[in-house]
Amino acid sequence: MAPRYPHRVTRPRRAPGGFPVVGVVGGGQLARMCAGPAAELGVTLSVLTEDPDSGAALVVPSAPVGSHLDADAVRRFAAECDVVTFDHEHVPQEVLALLVEDGVAVHPSPDALRFAQDKLAMRERLTALGVPCPRWARADTAADVEAFAAEVGWPLVAKTPRGGYDGKGVTVASSVDELADWLERAADAGTGLLLEERVGFRRELAVLLARSPSGQAAAWPVVETVQTGGICTEVLAPAPDLDDEVAALAVEAGLRVAGELGVTGVLAVELFEVAGADGGSSVLVNELAMRPHNSGHWSMDGAVTGQFEQHLRAVLDLPLGSPRPREPWTVMANVLGGDYPELYPAYRHVMARDPGLKAHLYGKGVRPGRKIGHVNVSGAVLEDLRERARHAADYIGGAVTE
Ligand SMILES: Nc1ncnc2c1ncn2[C@@H]1O[C@H](COP(=O)(O)OP(=O)(O)O)[C@@H](O)[C@H]1O
Ligand SMILES: [Mg+2]
Repeated sequence: MAPRYPHRVTRPRRAPGGFPVVGVVGGGQLARMCAGPAAELGVTLSVLTEDPDSGAALVVPSAPVGSHLDADAVRRFAAECDVVTFDHEHVPQEVLALLVEDGVAVHPSPDALRFAQDKLAMRERLTALGVPCPRWARADTAADVEAFAAEVGWPLVAKTPRGGYDGKGVTVASSVDELADWLERAADAGTGLLLEERVGFRRELAVLLARSPSGQAAAWPVVETVQTGGICTEVLAPAPDLDDEVAALAVEAGLRVAGELGVTGVLAVELFEVAGADGGSSVLVNELAMRPHNSGHWSMDGAVTGQFEQHLRAVLDLPLGSPRPREPWTVMANVLGGDYPELYPAYRHVMARDPGLKAHLYGKGVRPGRKIGHVNVSGAVLEDLRERARHAADYIGGAVTE
């Protein structure tokens, strides 16, 4: 029988000229979007994919199938790579420790990644560093919840420390009864529950930067992120009307976190902009991600160096590229899956309507509400860009038909 995936190679093929192999654990869209920049740089990408039909496996010839939970599979994969990095933060510390023991260059290191894997560990570390966060507590029992609610009031926010994304793993609760299931699941998982005050933020911001093992760091401008139902749907780069001092504070906080935690590769710091003293603003850190991030997708088209190229440069300890924006504004809008599975036919309309627009689709199957792609558009008039980006994203996803 003919092999089902004849284009696959079982070992990454290195380009002549001394070029390295970068391994990415996980086959999602972040791994997939490293493929273009890797090809341009002459670097070979290899992806450990759970699913032979993942978005990354569709475009990367070296995509061995294996689970990030399977220590043997991860070690075999890493043995063929010069450096290993991640599409997600779910590789267990035990597996990461084995890679380090094997002498593999792992970026970010397990010691840094720990704080992106566990939101309780992250809150503890940031608080110890004096980085401003929402008020928070760990809860294992209903009594813990009551005690924290007495301090910050209802409603409050509860989060599963591990494994959440796109608002899954986050809930707003108005009574301790509403958290009974959450406490039970946290007890089963042995993780406890993270409680936070519900922050009445003005808006959400993110600072994205890259840091190399040598310690060089480069930050993109602070962006505004718009979430709908816990999912990021739009990013405005740079954040409009952001006070220069607040922007500088946010970048400083990001650089400090990256340095103190020893982050290598791209670091995203999600922020809440809140009312400060005398009518001004300040920022609180929401969470950290140590990998390319949705808040940085704009940079693929809107900055001199996009986040996927920068991540590769950082994990390879190459000098970093300029994060400077190419235009006054870039707007990114996420394409969310709708009821209609056919996406490609929409290109004809969208591309004809707006030749300046850039579409990035992830090779993922459509499910309602699932992030399946994004569009970027850059220029001088922010409101015009927002309208163009939103329309194109909605049209591709099938939410609008004209
Ligand atoms: N303490 C909080 N107060 C108010 N809103 C919050 C709080 N924490 C999270 N949120 C909202 O929920 C979204 C998702 O929470 P987050 O912790 O970032 O989880 P995820 O890992 O799913 O991105 C945030 O972007 C924000 O809109
Ligand atoms: Mg988040």
